[in-house]
Amino acid sequence: MSNRVAVFRKVTFNAAHRLYRKDWSDDKNKEVFGLCANPHYHGHNYRLDVRVVGEIDPETGYVIDLKQLNDLITEEITERFDHRNLNLDCPEFKTLNPTGENIVVVIYHLIRKRLAERFDLQVRLWETEKNYFEYPA
Ligand code: NI
Repeated sequence: MSNRVAVFRKVTFNAAHRLYRKDWSDDKNKEVFGLCANPHYHGHNYRLDVRVVGEIDPETGYVIDLKQLNDLITEEITERFDHRNLNLDCPEFKTLNPTGENIVVVIYHLIRKRLAERFDLQVRLWETEKNYFEYPA
């Protein structure tokens, strides 16, 4: 029987954003994105659940060292996005609308590139207590 276990690390960060397309009129932006298109931005307390799946290492009993996983998430995600304006401060969203869907995909790739290939990764991003996004789906 496989010894694969899912390990989770939860982190939070605060960031501001605005949903809009420059190539649309203000009216169309308002129609599609509603309050999220307000010109002066708004903030969210984002919560991120990072799920790493792998075999238990028989020597350590770990799937992954959670300290190392946390350091990686801090460097790649928290330091990049916490207390930032995603539209204005983060090149990742210069031309990409910072919806929950797009943010969760960006976050997945930032973590994935630092994680050994033997691990499976899934990330869940909570934008509010009621709305969350998961990638890969
Ligand atoms: Ni929002």
